[in-house]
Amino acid sequence: MFFRTLALAATVGSALAQRPANISICDYYTTALLKNNTAANQKTLLTLVVNTAAIGNYTQPNIGITVPGILAPAMVNGTAVNLAPYFTGMLASTNRGGSMGISVNFLDGGGATPLMMNMPANDTSSNQYFLINHLYEYFGVLLGCSMQGGADYSAYEGDASQYEVHKFMQLSYAEVTYFIEQVGMSAASFGVATEDVMLVGTALMNAFGYRCEPPMTIVPAQGPQLQSICDDETCPLSPNATCASYNGTIPKPGNATIPGSNSTATSTGSGSKTTGGSTATGSAPVATVSTAAGATVAFSFAAVVGGLAAMFL
Ligand code: HEM
Ligand SMILES: *[C@@H]1O[C@H](CO)[C@@H](O)[C@H](O)[C@H]1NC(C)=O
Ligand SMILES: *[C@@H]1O[C@H](CO)[C@@H](O)[C@H](O)[C@H]1NC(C)=O
Ligand SMILES: *[C@@H]1O[C@H](CO)[C@@H](O)[C@H](O)[C@H]1NC(C)=O
Ligand SMILES: *[C@@H]1O[C@H](CO)[C@@H](O)[C@H](O)[C@H]1NC(C)=O
Ligand SMILES: *[C@@H]1O[C@H](CO)[C@@H](O)[C@H](O)[C@H]1NC(C)=O
Ligand SMILES: *[C@@H]1O[C@H](CO)[C@@H](O)[C@H](O)[C@H]1NC(C)=O
Ligand SMILES: *[C@@H]1O[C@H](CO)[C@@H](O)[C@H](O)[C@H]1NC(C)=O
Ligand SMILES: *[C@@H]1O[C@H](CO)[C@@H](O)[C@H](O)[C@H]1NC(C)=O
Ligand SMILES: *[C@@H]1O[C@H](CO)[C@@H](O)[C@H](O)[C@H]1NC(C)=O
Repeated sequence: MFFRTLALAATVGSALAQRPANISICDYYTTALLKNNTAANQKTLLTLVVNTAAIGNYTQPNIGITVPGILAPAMVNGTAVNLAPYFTGMLASTNRGGSMGISVNFLDGGGATPLMMNMPANDTSSNQYFLINHLYEYFGVLLGCSMQGGADYSAYEGDASQYEVHKFMQLSYAEVTYFIEQVGMSAASFGVATEDVMLVGTALMNAFGYRCEPPMTIVPAQGPQLQSICDDETCPLSPNATCASYNGTIPKPGNATIPGSNSTATSTGSGSKTTGGSTATGSAPVATVSTAAGATVAFSFAAVVGGLAAMFL
């Protein structure tokens, strides 16, 4: 199935006709890339897009767009970002510890290797397995997958409030921008039209990229929830800010303690400024992942989809 996917992807490119307004991005590109608009194919599309966004482009060929990937260090508008430490367990940044952030290794299901095989993880019980599956599900909702909600492609089963999920990460505007741009570049690398990439980028920025956003419904069954993922002082304030609904100031996540030692892992102590994940507890894949990205990204989304950079920069 993986190779069939690639063969079909190879036929896609600038030849795609314009998407009719009444067909969702998910449905339209599932049909364009994988022919049958089935739940299984929609999940395959989201698998390709999410895995590529995470680790960088790995399918061969794509339409000529290099995607560095969310796990690669990069420069965003002059600010260095490195999101890997949030995923490796290096930082005490997940909301699994009640009133404080704790460390979780999200690359515990084989890291990049299974992702490159179009799988979420090498098992069905790792943190990686649940996180990546939740991303397939959530982005399927965001892109309007009409066939989601059965055995072939589950409805979103994760937490309802993306603020609660991400709040101990205290993500900066540059970090959130990088994540969103990787999702957009991933989609673009499969032939998604510039207008659609911009639509997705704008929607993601509006939903998650501002501080103190009022409750918003993303997953209809989950109702209105606090969704701000961008939380630190560099994040633009929502035009409709309701800061009182949020938890107030939460400190940047610190280095996680290395089990069995009284010292801590190494980082700057500022989540947005760490420069390496290689000392993270129990996670080897980071180096592999970074290699896929090559050197520091000369941030050039504009070169990828002209005009989109104007939205961000
Ligand atoms: C801006 C758009 C983003 C969206 C739509 C998004 C969405 C999600 C979703 C749906 C989950 C799964 C929640 C669950 O399993 O209940 C998740 C988890 C996670 N996200 Fe994001 N995310 C975004 C940005 C970021 C950024 C910028 C980072 C920075 C590193 C990040 C790091 C994580 C981590 C580490 C988890 C696992 C948290 C846990 O399970 O405790 N996300 N995200
Ligand atoms: C979308 O609109 C076109 C033209 O109005 C119509 O023929 C088509 O059936 C519509 N498709 C869906 C899925 O609603
Ligand atoms: C599309 O699905 C139908 C019904 O499941 C099947 O008969 C057909 O072979 C599929 N076509 C492709 C191109 O996969
Ligand atoms: C990523 O995409 C670029 C541009 O098409 C290509 O040169 C490179 O070989 C791809 N990398 C991988 C690992 O497929
Ligand atoms: C944040 O606010 C929510 C909702 O009021 C509350 O349940 C939670 O305990 C608060 N957490 C912290 C860390 O203050
Ligand atoms: C999956 O990867 C983890 C490392 O992340 C490794 O410990 C485990 O043995 C692997 N499992 C399989 C079945 O390959
Ligand atoms: C702010 O709230 C108004 C009124 O509810 C709404 O029309 C507008 O779209 C909101 N703007 C943003 C950016 O959320
Ligand atoms: C950590 O500190 C405790 C008490 O301070 C001590 O008993 C223990 O041996 C130390 N462990 C290591 C690995 O240094
Ligand atoms: C975290 O580790 C880095 C080294 O990578 C170190 O510079 C920094 O001081 C540490 N932060 C804390 C709060 O321990
Ligand atoms: C980019 O950096 C410039 C200069 O620091 C700043 O004025 C601008 O607001 C930044 N833009 C974004 C989108 O962060």
